[in-house]
Amino acid sequence: MKRLSGKTIVLGVSGGIAAFKAASLCSRLVSWGASVRVVMTEGATRFITPLTLQTLSRHSVATDVFDERDPSVVQHIDWADAADLVVVAPATANIIGKMANGIADDMLSTLLLATTAPVVVAPAMNVHMWEHPAVIENVVKLGSRGVRFVEPGTGQLACGYVGKGRLAEPDEIAEAIAAWLTGPKLLAGRKVMITAGGTVERIDPVRYITNDSSGKMGFALAETARDLGAEVTLICARTDEKPPGGVELVQVESAADMYESVMNRLGTVDVIVKAAAVADYRPSVQYQSKIKKKEQTLSLELVRNPDILQAIGEWKTAYPGERVPFVIGFAAETGDLETFAMDKLQRKKCDLVVANDVSREGAGFASDTNIVSIYGPEGLVENIALSAKSIVAERIWRLAVERMNGA
Ligand code: CTP
Repeated sequence: MKRLSGKTIVLGVSGGIAAFKAASLCSRLVSWGASVRVVMTEGATRFITPLTLQTLSRHSVATDVFDERDPSVVQHIDWADAADLVVVAPATANIIGKMANGIADDMLSTLLLATTAPVVVAPAMNVHMWEHPAVIENVVKLGSRGVRFVEPGTGQLACGYVGKGRLAEPDEIAEAIAAWLTGPKLLAGRKVMITAGGTVERIDPVRYITNDSSGKMGFALAETARDLGAEVTLICARTDEKPPGGVELVQVESAADMYESVMNRLGTVDVIVKAAAVADYRPSVQYQSKIKKKEQTLSLELVRNPDILQAIGEWKTAYPGERVPFVIGFAAETGDLETFAMDKLQRKKCDLVVANDVSREGAGFASDTNIVSIYGPEGLVENIALSAKSIVAERIWRLAVERMNGA
């Protein structure tokens, strides 16, 4: 029995130079036993002929929503219903924009709106287009609707630029499809604890100290882990966003609350991600009633909070026989990323540290995007250029799983 026997895959091809690579993807899927139906945009037919994909898929190729050949069915609905998965490869900025905004003005975009099957998108475009805020917004929107992205690679682009935007290799896309359809999912059977948001340190009943964390990066990691099959506990401090569904949500306020919730779960989880921005200090006194103004100045004394990540590191050393979690820390810095990240990794005994320079545009707290460098015990592991937080999350999980499986 072949890997994809019995599966029907709709392969959407949109109009970019990488359209020729759809031929390799199509033949790989067919060789794995899938029944492949190809839908091409008008633009795609300028780069590769329908005859090529018809020959490789052994089915006629759909290009025109009005070209109804079988009177017993409406083709775009019939194929949308029959699909176990729809993949768009290559996906141009245009088709991504149409998908994000519900536009249905040709066969492919109409089918994409009509299907309830999982959708995988493999983008390919110029690096500046991939990093354009409009494209990022669309990718974020689609990610939040459950669309999976096979990230473009970095390299020589057809337009002459060197950068991110090259279609992922057809084999990588085929693997992503097979993993989705046949599992087991990457994080199946694993328990993951993620902390997100900014802690709130009370001064009195109506005032507090907090920080700019929006919770978006932690939520993206929780959502992706859930989709990859993990059982997720989200320890959530103050955030601006709605937390994702399908996870166990534990609402906390202060660093002390978070410390307790996290430490109580040690020994029961396989992975811990400390994406929360934990306040290093809290007011030494928390007033039970509202502070009234009296003097011209008011001093607030602050005392140190427990360092949760450090406590996890110490727990690992103190109880080596216990279920030892793989620990991912975060480092939000405003310069000298490598020195601070490596210091945190060693001091807090993390397996990976995801560092970002929060002073850079597109990185940082409230943004939908991030620019990160990931460090392991050996030093820099990977730089991720400006990308939607969902894409950064996917990449972090893939790296973590590679390392957990290798260990
Ligand atoms: N962290 C934590 N508990 C704290 C402070 C930080 O668990 N009291 C975790 C954060 O969740 C993050 C990592 O430690 O994963 C690094 O946080 P950051 O604030 O950048 O580092 P600090 O250790 O506070 O270092 P510094 O203030 O010197 O930058």
